[in-house]
Amino acid sequence: MAGRLQNKVALVTGGGSGIGRATALAMAHEGAKVVVADMSVEGGEETVQLVAEQRGVAKFVRADVTSEEAIKGMVQETVAAFGRLDCAFNNAGMGGAGKRTHEHTEADWDRTMALNLTGVWLCMKYEIAQMLKQCGGAIVNTSSIRGVVGLDSGLSAYVASKHAVLGLTKSAALEYANHNIRINAVCPGVIETPMVTKALVAIDGYAERVQIMQPVGRLGQPEEIAKPVVWLCSDASSYVTGTGLIADGAWTAQ
Ligand SMILES: NC(=O)c1ccc[n+]([C@@H]2O[C@H](COP(=O)([O-])OP(=O)(O)OC[C@H]3O[C@@H](n4cnc5c(N)ncnc54)[C@H](O)[C@@H]3O)[C@@H](O)[C@H]2O)c1
Repeated sequence: MAGRLQNKVALVTGGGSGIGRATALAMAHEGAKVVVADMSVEGGEETVQLVAEQRGVAKFVRADVTSEEAIKGMVQETVAAFGRLDCAFNNAGMGGAGKRTHEHTEADWDRTMALNLTGVWLCMKYEIAQMLKQCGGAIVNTSSIRGVVGLDSGLSAYVASKHAVLGLTKSAALEYANHNIRINAVCPGVIETPMVTKALVAIDGYAERVQIMQPVGRLGQPEEIAKPVVWLCSDASSYVTGTGLIADGAWTAQ
């Protein structure tokens, strides 16, 4: 049986770890040729190796998605390697400074916004330009449950950036709705990745609170975000655009 992304070309930023890696693997499993973009050469190459082990096709492109030149090059390299760009998962992001709002420095704020928000916009800028040439495509941006509700644990810049990703997603979805380009976001709950493991240790009492607040009694796994992202990129979601898909084990339902 043909995979749900057969003959499609996909690009995943932050593909060298966590949610991005799981999604690159899932996309390749569904038949896509995948460009794994990451700042980390080691992580990115390892993902490509894992895709190869499951007999998929992937290529690593080193890209820092806080740099417009790097993003432009990443999209160009994707098209040069595989001829087009059908699905883009703008996922690279960071957790933020772990300080309360009045303790943030302007540099803390700018660092978070540069990656989590401006980076997503710049990726979309070049991806959409390519998709307009091809008359279609699907984009998924990584927001968060922190794009929907706030947090009292010193991550206000992160929360602001993830809310903004949702606003950007909705507006862009409207702009390109009649160009056959669908633009959605995914809002993960607490997913067991290296980023979260670090935060659970860094913020006092956070690990206990997170565990207690999980209605399903456990954290999510990266594969549980990869599957909805594959669906959002596939033709199965052809009428879904401009939405933020929450995958959080009912955390925000509380
Ligand atoms: N894990 C969670 O619980 C959770 C929840 C909600 C949202 N998210 C979001 O999911 C996304 C992925 O998070 P994760 O938990 O998989 O993290 P992770 O730390 O496991 O992976 C992030 C990847 O992004 C790469 N990266 C970082 N900065 C980059 C840059 N400037 N350019 C290119 N690549 C860069 C890293 O090298 C790494 O491979 C992030 O946007 C994060 O905010 C995560």
